[in-house]
Amino acid sequence: MATRPPLVSAEPRRSELLAIVKQRPLPEHIAIIMDGNGRWAACRGRERTFGHRQGLETASQIVEFVGQELKIKHLTLFAFSKENWRRPRAEVDFLMNLLIDFVQRKLDELLRNNVRLRVLGEVSELPAGVRAEVERAVVTSEDNDGLYLNLAINYGGRQELVRVTQAIARDCAAGRLSPDHICENTLAHYLYTQDLPDPDLLIRTSGEERVSNFLLWQIAYTEFWFTETLWPDFSKEELLRAIADFQRRQRKFGTVVEP
Ligand code: IPE
Ligand code: IPE
Ligand code: MG
Repeated sequence: MATRPPLVSAEPRRSELLAIVKQRPLPEHIAIIMDGNGRWAACRGRERTFGHRQGLETASQIVEFVGQELKIKHLTLFAFSKENWRRPRAEVDFLMNLLIDFVQRKLDELLRNNVRLRVLGEVSELPAGVRAEVERAVVTSEDNDGLYLNLAINYGGRQELVRVTQAIARDCAAGRLSPDHICENTLAHYLYTQDLPDPDLLIRTSGEERVSNFLLWQIAYTEFWFTETLWPDFSKEELLRAIADFQRRQRKFGTVVEP
């Protein structure tokens, strides 16, 4: 006898998942290492750039969902690392042009959705055309107070800490800061993330289980969630599953929690 499909799907649908995760406290800040674009394209016999283009569409959908449906306050996306300059010139050029394309095609929508865009990373080292578009997006969105979207571009966690150390040393040498008064909050203030809360949840796609120099200071107590899914295939449903898993975890911050 042929087996019949189950009457009720074992996988809750997006609307059900959404209702479930909304019943419990949501993470205030989600960070994502969007990885696997190249492999996604290779699986389809296409150039890596094809994967990056699709990855951008996925990122746009996730941004809209996080801001409009989940109403989470902070989202940080790792778009280009300091180490990514080591890639072939053509791929780097493509990624830089994609950043320009992102601002030109999506800025209006981001503004309509009350998104404030910020960049974590060394903007001054970006090609002039990219810098101009990125800065335009930052300036025109600076009064928005819906989703705070942080794009990590030309970002490296170690380089960020070197930059912070230099800035602190300069301020001490100039008498603006006393070494005795340096504490965790001082350091946090000098980071690109400044006043942002640390990420509660860090998601990495594509089956890689490493941090790749992302937000080293800020993830001291972040919960990690890894998935095999390649970034272009990452869906709203999967984001909801990551959040539901996060909500089941007990965060202890070093203390003892009574059972
Ligand atoms: C992530 O996808 C995008 C960037 C790092 C810019 P990859 O390009 O790293 O894709 P894989 O990991 O090679 O598949
Ligand atoms: C991390 O991915 C950087 C971004 C997602 C922008 P990579 O693909 O560059 O990281 P590694 O090289 O696998 O560690
Ligand atoms: Mg990768």
